[in-house]
Amino acid sequence: MANAIERVIEIREKALGEIKEAENLEGLTAIKNIYLAKKSELTALMGLMKELRAEEKGSFGKAINDTKAAIQEAWAKKAAEMEKRKLQAQLEKETIDISLPGETANVGHINPYYVIIDEVSDIFAGMGFEIVEGRDVETDHYNFELLNVPQDHPARDMQDTFYISETELLRTQTSAAQAHTMLSKGGTEPIKMICPGKTYRRDEDDMTHSHQFSQIEGLVVAPGVSLADLKGTLELFVKKMFGEKREVRFRSSFFPFTEPSVEVDASCSNCGGKGCNMCKGTGWIEIGGAGEVHPNVLRMCGYNPDEYSGFAFGVGVERIAMLRFGIDDIRRFYTNDIRFIKDFNAK
Ligand code: PHE
Repeated sequence: MANAIERVIEIREKALGEIKEAENLEGLTAIKNIYLAKKSELTALMGLMKELRAEEKGSFGKAINDTKAAIQEAWAKKAAEMEKRKLQAQLEKETIDISLPGETANVGHINPYYVIIDEVSDIFAGMGFEIVEGRDVETDHYNFELLNVPQDHPARDMQDTFYISETELLRTQTSAAQAHTMLSKGGTEPIKMICPGKTYRRDEDDMTHSHQFSQIEGLVVAPGVSLADLKGTLELFVKKMFGEKREVRFRSSFFPFTEPSVEVDASCSNCGGKGCNMCKGTGWIEIGGAGEVHPNVLRMCGYNPDEYSGFAFGVGVERIAMLRFGIDDIRRFYTNDIRFIKDFNAK
């Protein structure tokens, strides 16, 4: 009996000691399996009861039960402590340092190309122009023939073209929208429209040329519309776009669908017309072509040239954007480099 009690005490010391020393939950589980399982030594010691005298049974049973309870309690306490420590460690690891810079949302920017289209549209809408949408894929008929450029006309060579089929092509000029608009108005309604959009020509790409670029077409048709009206309109546009002091000059030129035809220059906004790098020392910068609508075009598009006259112009969108924002290379508009858009917006 004395031996058995001693053993119970030993087990108790040993178990409590091991629980105290346990370093992790795995170790603690192993301890439970040794001391508190169904087949533990303590349970086995219970088997000795039947050999004890009646008066001894009570105290021996109590010793074992107390020991079991003590081990159970110490074990549960230690396990709870460990859980708490584990949670603590996890919380510490996962804390958010609110002094660190946060992740900023990536906000998009407008391509300068669209900034210009919006501004130009605004200026012309203010003068009462309608904004017309054209189409990128055109027929030869609208892109050339209705614009007084029949098959085999040498002027086609200036616009070496991307053909999609015998009769369809990527439009080489927004002028195609002139014919569409005139035909849609039925030959009597006066017209005041602009049409911004992409155009395509086979070109050697360099800093100022791209196989894809954009124009803003303008067309005014009404009785008595003169070259002076064209000049006044473009002058107002250039002043609004580049500043009050800008001037416009015409140089005579040739386009098959206008007569007379002119190249339109604006006085250089960089040097004010004195001559600088940007205007190559001339004081003037070309912004597009224009002229009085050719009588053949009016006729083919349903307007009687004896009653109606008109002017048309085409200005380059990228050209205007480059001058306006000091962009050095036309290819930047189309290479899809996010740094360009960001840099442009930063300025
Ligand atoms: N379409 C001509 C070009 O692309 C420009 C232009 C438009 C000229 C309208 C006259 C009138 O070069």
